[in-house]
Amino acid sequence: MAAPEKPWGGRFEQDTDPAVERFTASVHVDRELARYDIRGSIAHARMLGRTGVIPEADADELVRGLEEIGREVEAGTLPLDPRLEDIHMNVESRLRDRIGPVAGRLHTGRSRNDQVATDLALYLRDAARAMRAGLLELRRVLVRRATEHLDTILPGYTHLQRAQPVRLAHHWLAFFEMLGRDAGRFADLDRRLALSPLGSGALAGTTLPLDRDDTARALGFAGPTRNSMDAVGARDGALEFLAACAIAMVHLSRLAEELVLWSSSEFGFVELADAYATGSSLMPQKKNPDVPELVRGKTGRVIGDLVALLTIVKGLPLTYNRDLQEDKEPVFDAAGTLRDSLAVLAGALATLTVRTGRMRAAAEDPLLLATDLAEALVREAVPFREAHEVVGRIVAHCVSTGADLRTLSHDALRRFHPAFPSGADDLLSLERALERRNLPGATARVRVLEALAAAETELAKEAGSLTAAQEIP
Ligand code: ARG
Repeated sequence: MAAPEKPWGGRFEQDTDPAVERFTASVHVDRELARYDIRGSIAHARMLGRTGVIPEADADELVRGLEEIGREVEAGTLPLDPRLEDIHMNVESRLRDRIGPVAGRLHTGRSRNDQVATDLALYLRDAARAMRAGLLELRRVLVRRATEHLDTILPGYTHLQRAQPVRLAHHWLAFFEMLGRDAGRFADLDRRLALSPLGSGALAGTTLPLDRDDTARALGFAGPTRNSMDAVGARDGALEFLAACAIAMVHLSRLAEELVLWSSSEFGFVELADAYATGSSLMPQKKNPDVPELVRGKTGRVIGDLVALLTIVKGLPLTYNRDLQEDKEPVFDAAGTLRDSLAVLAGALATLTVRTGRMRAAAEDPLLLATDLAEALVREAVPFREAHEVVGRIVAHCVSTGADLRTLSHDALRRFHPAFPSGADDLLSLERALERRNLPGATARVRVLEALAAAETELAKEAGSLTAAQEIP
């Protein structure tokens, strides 16, 4: 194929070196922006016609051609040539093939700098909604499984040491909260991407009488950006998106880590469904938690995506610099990775077998109720520090003699402290221990029921605001 003409070729006498063509090309990456690029170009072309900057009939031609190319994009048949650098020049060149020289009017008053900033903002707004939709799905599964396991009791851990008994529902609702904040971060980002960069030109605006309000509105923005130099050079929207992705992945990684731990023989709390586990090519007995392990592993890459773009942007003078072309790979990678991780974890959790007996047995560890015993003394007006010390000695006694904290008689307890009330043994039932933790946000049954109801309301609200969730490419 003959080398295509470069739209910027006028002042050049030599052809671009092929190695440079390969090095500067980005269409293998920014092809993902194609549908946004076409949307932006259609809005721009219509506005050019409406304002009389170009003849209306030409604008109609441009729109018709762009719509055809849009159909090629959706069908996956748009030919892409890396010698035309990026998606913007590929679309423009395709337009020329289809409608002839009138295509040369499309780029009037526009630069690829404001064009790509607009494409990226449109992409990020859709992607933020897609991430919220994925989070919503996983949060639905968490609530469903939590509801099912309202009365499943397991040890809660600090330092990965058994600490105090909790409901499994309470444990999983902790992740519901974390993922809810993640969804909030994506919703915030949507608001901060509300202004359209289109019409900022290369950096300083244009001498032509464009109507920036018109294109902004046509593309679903609240209005035009306020500073053209900021608009073409800023990438904090992408950075914020990456930060939200990285934080969400870190949350998924912690959930994944628990699935790995809990499915080990040592814990034996859960078993992954066959469809969400894999075998060993060597050891026939193995059933490996590769899905959560990979979620944990891919979290490293998404953190890397954030750090990559922060590093790309940090030393740049205003305004646009070609370094910024490197923004897309991390953004697309993070979006795709988070989307897929959310989907597989939702599936793994939905199909997980919970070994309630194993959890209960671990929670029966009598020492988990040591805090309750100390607080029983506090209720008898003993200062907490003193109570802590006393119960510490009781624990040491149990550990060295093998006695069970729960079956110590009232007399035995009173030998450690005279204030122990009678019926302190009754204090040590697991169910009662949970019921006593009855403050807002704690693990008593009514509190967890309240939390489940609140979660359902929140899910319905989020689903309502996401009815038009956009698929990202
Ligand atoms: N492919 C470029 C990018 O993604 C588009 C903008 C190029 N602008 C320029 N003046 N070379 O950043």
